Amino acid sequence: MMTLDISEENLKIAGRALAEGKLVAIPTETVYGLGADAFNAAAVARVFEAKARPSFDPLIVHIARIEDLEKIASSIPPKAKLLADHLWPGPLTMILPKRSEVPDIVTSGLPTAAVRFPQHPVARKIIEFSGTAIAAPSANPFGYISPTRAEHVARLLGEKIDYLVDGGACEVGVESTVIDMTHDLPKILRPGGMPVERIIEIIGPVDMSVKKSAVVSSPGQLDSHYAPSTQLFLFEYGTLNLGNAHCLIEGMDPGLAAAIVFDDARAQEAARAGFSTVFTLSSNGNLRDAAANLFALLHELDSRNFSVLVAEKCPDEGLGRAINDRLYRASVK
Ligand code: TXA
Ligand code: MG
Repeated sequence: MMTLDISEENLKIAGRALAEGKLVAIPTETVYGLGADAFNAAAVARVFEAKARPSFDPLIVHIARIEDLEKIASSIPPKAKLLADHLWPGPLTMILPKRSEVPDIVTSGLPTAAVRFPQHPVARKIIEFSGTAIAAPSANPFGYISPTRAEHVARLLGEKIDYLVDGGACEVGVESTVIDMTHDLPKILRPGGMPVERIIEIIGPVDMSVKKSAVVSSPGQLDSHYAPSTQLFLFEYGTLNLGNAHCLIEGMDPGLAAAIVFDDARAQEAARAGFSTVFTLSSNGNLRDAAANLFALLHELDSRNFSVLVAEKCPDEGLGRAINDRLYRASVK
């Protein structure tokens, strides 16, 4: 793998490599993606292989010009048009009926495709230089924590990819919100970097009751996902105390555990409860900062020798929904 900085020349190299069927990890505002030409089935197959991702889990197709939406989607419902006008580029992925030109491997044979127009200037330039649309899942082995820094990608997938473009830390830090626009009442499949509240302001009510059905319509819904190797136990916001922890975690030594909490106020509680190692997601209680820090903290804690991780949810609003969703999935084995 070759790491590239973000000089214009290097972004052209990355774009050309994608056009030639190579795998390029690229920074986006949410997390790093592992990109391949969406119209090159063999290149996309290598993405699944590199991630050890099951073939039933479809990829998001990334575009860098609104006109390109028509190359992926066979029809664009009025509410999807409204969301594209107001919230793109940004951390929002829409599920739309797909055009037959999009290879089945990208969509796992589904009649729909996931499309996103990312905000990150580096991602946009690389996609533009490629001259095509880019299929890109998060650049992590399947089921593990998503990468928010180039070094995460290098460590996790370095040997399996051709290029890594180092754009520094990702600003949003959690994956895009995925919304299925093929129903009259659009359906949130994955809470993410675009707050659901913003979406509702623009198109009105959405279905937020992500159902766990036998058929997984979005494997981001799989219970166990985004998971560290160290076992993580999750507590509701404001409920992390020693009594609760001992109930849930048999034989726990609070001295060997790391606690993850939202802000300084909750950190003081955790320290009072006997946890000697406590990490805050945002000391002054800002949900955007908390989301931006979440995965980097999980990567770091997972590489240290804690016996368990103990996390408390954030307030369940705005980006807090995405954080709590990822913490929940990290806690399920
Ligand atoms: O922020 C993001 O979305 C990042 C960056 C790289 O753009 N990408 C990302 O991709 O998180 P990935 O593959 O890790 O997650 C894509 C999610 C998966 O849960 C997948 O099942 C769902 O989108 N998805 C893709 N196509 C779908 C479809 N046609 N119908 C339903 N869900 C779909
Ligand atoms: Mg992923």
